[in-house]
Amino acid sequence: AIQSDLSTDLLDWYDRNARVMPWRVGPGDRAAGVMPDPYRVWLSEVMLQQTTVAAVRDYFTRFTTRWSTVQALAAAPDDQVMGEWAGLGYYARARNLLKCARVVADDYGGAFPDTYDALLKLPGIGPYTAAAIAAIAFDRPETVLDGNVERVMARLHDIHEPLPGSKPVLKNKAAALTPNTRPGDYAQAVMDLGATICTPKSPACGICPLRDPCQARAAGTQTDLPRKTPK
Ligand code: ADE
Repeated sequence: AIQSDLSTDLLDWYDRNARVMPWRVGPGDRAAGVMPDPYRVWLSEVMLQQTTVAAVRDYFTRFTTRWSTVQALAAAPDDQVMGEWAGLGYYARARNLLKCARVVADDYGGAFPDTYDALLKLPGIGPYTAAAIAAIAFDRPETVLDGNVERVMARLHDIHEPLPGSKPVLKNKAAALTPNTRPGDYAQAVMDLGATICTPKSPACGICPLRDPCQARAAGTQTDLPRKTPK
């Protein structure tokens, strides 16, 4: 009961505070059965792998304006795609992007596979990205664990074991909270909470939808968490 209350509170917060992004559908759209385009979800998640939302936004708009489907991207000459990617960095991502687009176009008839296991087999899609696409594009209850989610979980449960050793524990905590209803919205709700409220240096605990159950807030340890093993 505690868990479902938590995810319900977080989803209610998301309904009121979701950040508007060009790859998302609008508030209430999912409830009306409108799902985001898997091509756009995939493209955004690959771009966001090592790059901030602010930096990705305009690249995403240029890519999707020029290539509006995965088939169109698959048919693009390599040098044009690399040219549009210029400035985003990590160019192996762009090469894998094209490889992946061509596999989806050639082997899947242009329809992205809709499970974590099948997504994980595609070029450039690792565990994080497979879970994100399965949750956001297909509403599968997969657990998305990025830096934001790690921070939220470490604080919510007041976990002092340092990263990266604590990753399995944090993943279990995140999995236990992932609801079977609205898992796609839930995945994005945790990301948004971490990006806007549960921030690294000065979290806005006073307006956090999880302030009551947050164990770090109760202990006053929120800005110490998550701990990291010195490199
Ligand atoms: N970072 C990575 N994926 C994201 C998403 N779907 N929404 C917000 N931030 C993200």
